[in-house]
Amino acid sequence: RHIVYKKEVTSTQDIAHQLVQEGAEEGTIVIADKQTKGKGRLGRPWHSMEEKGLWFSIILRPDIPPQVAPQLTLLTAVAVQEGLERATDLPVEIKWPNDILLRGKKIAGILTEMHSELDRIQAIVVGIGLNVNQQKTDFPEELSAVATSLSMEANGKVFQRSDVIVSVLEKYEHWYYKYLDQGFFPIKKRWEQLATTIGKEITAKTMRKEVQGIAEGITDEGVLLIRKKDGTLESVYSADID
Ligand code: BTN
Repeated sequence: RHIVYKKEVTSTQDIAHQLVQEGAEEGTIVIADKQTKGKGRLGRPWHSMEEKGLWFSIILRPDIPPQVAPQLTLLTAVAVQEGLERATDLPVEIKWPNDILLRGKKIAGILTEMHSELDRIQAIVVGIGLNVNQQKTDFPEELSAVATSLSMEANGKVFQRSDVIVSVLEKYEHWYYKYLDQGFFPIKKRWEQLATTIGKEITAKTMRKEVQGIAEGITDEGVLLIRKKDGTLESVYSADID
């Protein structure tokens, strides 16, 4: 297996996509100290100019249809939660759809991008950003209310970044092989245990309406199921959750 390490890149996703085109094998990891153009979901930028975080992309080549690719994002959330919690003992939470939070603030981000041809996936590039040793002043003003780092939540303790990534990658390997072996069910169960949203009374604000009820679980496509007061079940594809 290959690990490609760079001091500075635009985005580890860019390098990983290039490697996919060149035929890189499954399990190849691209990691960089700094990203000048880190990418977040929905075209947002991802602040990663500091060498204090972990910025990496994993190349996977699972033999699955493109429709179930979101399962890999849920798998990643489980591996990141377990890996971070084991490395730090901090109370890391998963919040639907794929936020990783620590005491209500964002500690990690996951970006899943896919190469597919007709009905087959050629590769999936899973990008993971972990805020490790940043302090409050390392974050731009507009992020400091919503983002945090492991160090900030551990009274300024400095974490060895290599310990943190090893812990996350070990969990990743565990869950990925389980997925190839047993399918999505074990991951779905674990995700539902770890996601703080599940089993709670929530209000989901979608673009068109508000849905109130108990979050019951997710489907194989990662859709959130809400049991409303009248007993009916409603599917929510994307929303803000309170
Ligand atoms: C999000 O919006 O929450 C997803 C953020 C993903 C950030 C990581 S950092 C490593 C990889 N390279 C990128 O440019 N983005 C992902």
